[in-house]
Amino acid sequence: MSKSLLVTGGAGFIASNFIHYMMKRYPEYQIINIDQLTYAGKGANVQQAAALENYHFIKGDIADEALIQHIFSEYDIDGVIHFAAESHVDRSIEDVKAFIESNVLGTSVLLQTARDSWDKKGELATGRFHQISTDEVYGALGLESDEKFNEETPYDPRNPYSASKAGADMLVKSFGRTYGMNVVTSSSSNNYGPRQHQEKLIPTVISNALQGNPIPLYGDGKNVRDWLYVEDHCRAIDLIFHQGQTLEKYNIGGGNEKSNIELAMMICDILDHLKPGQHSHKELITFIGDRKGHDRRYAVDDSKIRDTLGWKPLTSFKTGLNQTVEWYVDQWEKVTS
Ligand SMILES: NC(=O)c1ccc[n+]([C@@H]2O[C@H](COP(=O)([O-])OP(=O)(O)OC[C@H]3O[C@@H](n4cnc5c(N)ncnc54)[C@H](O)[C@@H]3O)[C@@H](O)[C@H]2O)c1
Repeated sequence: MSKSLLVTGGAGFIASNFIHYMMKRYPEYQIINIDQLTYAGKGANVQQAAALENYHFIKGDIADEALIQHIFSEYDIDGVIHFAAESHVDRSIEDVKAFIESNVLGTSVLLQTARDSWDKKGELATGRFHQISTDEVYGALGLESDEKFNEETPYDPRNPYSASKAGADMLVKSFGRTYGMNVVTSSSSNNYGPRQHQEKLIPTVISNALQGNPIPLYGDGKNVRDWLYVEDHCRAIDLIFHQGQTLEKYNIGGGNEKSNIELAMMICDILDHLKPGQHSHKELITFIGDRKGHDRRYAVDDSKIRDTLGWKPLTSFKTGLNQTVEWYVDQWEKVTS
């Protein structure tokens, strides 16, 4: 299938893990990574790939039409895996503009360029466009219910970030319907693992704990997320990109529903073992004012990808969380030693 892949946002958390995964699994593929290196992207995240001949990094904006057209013709792109996005809910609540520019406009530029390029080559139905989406597009679930989002759950985004992702998903679907493009979408739950930006929950808990600072938790700490180890997500994307049905959507979950307080406690237990002190790190946990419109619970029903593509997560939450905490402690020791 596709041999020349455009991966967007490859200096960010999930896509940098995905690039490492793909370069190992498909050494014959050419991978082009476009990333604007916003505050969230880090060149160091893909340093290991930089030396490989079949990897190319381009610093640029996905909404830059001329640049995207140049990349398609220069590298003869036949597949797009689209991760690039403004991704932090809190920032979208403060200022929505960058979210519309990157997440909606940027997606439209990629779609339009892919359509034109593949149409010219007679590859409209074979070139694949994979949209990486989030379970947040479905809205929120109640703490008391055991309901989960499935692929038929209507979109009901509650904050500007999820609204911009929902808008992008709709554009992707429309390009499949209108022009016959070979599009597929996947929505995953919260990812965790190495290389996540400092501002997200797990790195925030670890870095504050290591510095002896208060560990801030929103509201009563009881908001629930379903945690998915990033490498399990990468395997799911690989399967969906290669074998998923055109125009279909696949949910990907970790099967690890945890409230923020439970998660913070687990991280503190691991840190108490790795970095024992006079007091438990748990004493640093502090509740702060709640996030505006804070969705109470997300959980996904991922039976479709399990039943049709044979995927399941391979990393237990205990193992994944231990590996993750160890990775951040190691990084922290490198910068402080
Ligand atoms: N992190 C999660 O738990 C999670 C869960 C479900 C879905 N997702 C989705 O996965 C994707 C990746 O998320 P992440 O957490 O790795 O994000 P991230 O913030 O770590 O990385 C995003 C990357 O995109 C780049 N970028 C942003 N705007 C750009 C633009 N206009 N042009 C080029 N590059 C641009 C940034 O520089 C950064 O490297 C996003 O689409 C997000 O919606 C994330």
